Amino acid sequence: MNFEPQLPNWGYELAQKKLDILIKYHSWLKETGIKTGLISQKNDQFIWDEFIVHSLYFSIVFQELEIKNKTIFDLGTGGGIPGIPLAITSNNLISLIDIKESRINELIRLKNILNLDNIKPTLEDANKTIVKEGLFVSRCYISTENALNLLKNKENSTYVVSSADKETEYDSEKFHVKHLNFYINKEDLRHIDVITVK
Ligand SMILES: C[S@@+](CC[C@H](N)C(=O)[O-])C[C@H]1O[C@@H](n2cnc3c(N)ncnc32)[C@H](O)[C@@H]1O
Repeated sequence: MNFEPQLPNWGYELAQKKLDILIKYHSWLKETGIKTGLISQKNDQFIWDEFIVHSLYFSIVFQELEIKNKTIFDLGTGGGIPGIPLAITSNNLISLIDIKESRINELIRLKNILNLDNIKPTLEDANKTIVKEGLFVSRCYISTENALNLLKNKENSTYVVSSADKETEYDSEKFHVKHLNFYINKEDLRHIDVITVK
């Protein structure tokens, strides 16, 4: 199967100039990422579409919210997803949080390989990180429902979280949840919820 590092129309302006470094990250995921168990065995196209293109949509969300030069916490980052593509395509500082030391050590090595100044791999329990107010992202870490529970009473917080196609019910007096749908390639639709605390 030929691998095509394509960008969807929505991601072209955001990422076209960063294609070389995104492809370098893709190579790292498929070699080191698989070898060290950060991601399971997947083909090249899957790694590009599901991990990299999917992550780029998180960056689109922050661009639309006009969030610049801020710290964003990627909870349960694993191999740096979505935090690394978010760091590559924005000037925010991305704090990559994971509870597994081996994952954080790989991400420290990756920081040097990609020469990325705006990432901070951090060994921490995400349940402690989210005690603070702030900006959070996560992919395949927790459900929207659990994210809502964690965010209770954390005013001035935004959590952008990968979600299922079905919209989650929520208390509209406490939160606003925007359910976004986007294609990661010609066929596959994915979903992200943008939760803000009122
Ligand atoms: C299913 S993986 C998802 C990784 C990545 N976000 C992705 O989309 O591929 C979940 C990650 O969360 C981490 N994790 C689990 N519990 C955690 C906790 N309490 N605090 C921080 N990280 C945690 C795991 O070590 C793992 O790397």
